[in-house]
Amino acid sequence: MTQNKENAASAALEEVRDGMVLGIGTGSTTAFFLERLAERARDENLELCGVPTSIQSAHLATQLGIRLVALNEVDVVDLAVDGCDEFDANLDLIKGRGGAMVREKVVDYAAKRLVILADGPKRVKQLGEQVPVPIEVLPFAWAAVAREIDELGGQWDLREGTAKDGPVVTDNGNLILDTRFGLIDDPEALERRLAIIPGVIGSGLFTGHVDIVYCGTNDGVDVITR
Ligand code: A5P
Repeated sequence: MTQNKENAASAALEEVRDGMVLGIGTGSTTAFFLERLAERARDENLELCGVPTSIQSAHLATQLGIRLVALNEVDVVDLAVDGCDEFDANLDLIKGRGGAMVREKVVDYAAKRLVILADGPKRVKQLGEQVPVPIEVLPFAWAAVAREIDELGGQWDLREGTAKDGPVVTDNGNLILDTRFGLIDDPEALERRLAIIPGVIGSGLFTGHVDIVYCGTNDGVDVITR
């Protein structure tokens, strides 16, 4: 599976042009992309800078010598490159296994072009087949949001740390509810519905914004556009 992620990351390099401001997603596939990007920038002397979507991607980019810039300091993000946990035929997504979905959504939706890196098992007929929809919530409000999820007929778990006792705290200082709604018939409607619950910062449903998915295979890549 690692090879498939690497194949997707390598293929997506063709999207990058000199002088671009890049949105840098989070996760293991984006990490492969960043490594290839740093190599290419060195070899071709490219002037690039990146807007990171997490502490993880900021650290890695810094280690690799990729110049970072804050979202508030740029007029435009030319190209965002990010991973996903599920994608469907409409190129709608579930993201947020790593808890970075809110900053990812801000940067990905702001970008002029959004490129997603994936591998075979993440391709689903209907979102919700395999992974929960994570929702970042204000700590103050998590139980009230959870009651709203109950009302919507969903199930939820407060995400717990693995190397920490108690809940996961995001890079923004918030908590995560992992929610399940079964197979999601209308991801766009659910994204909008979740967004209006008071106390919700944002969900891992990403709809209507992806331009292209590079889906790594054992020996190459499938390129899927809308
Ligand atoms: C981060 O919170 C997530 O949205 C990741 O982008 C997503 O989980 C993909 O991660 P991998 O590339 O590690 O599978």
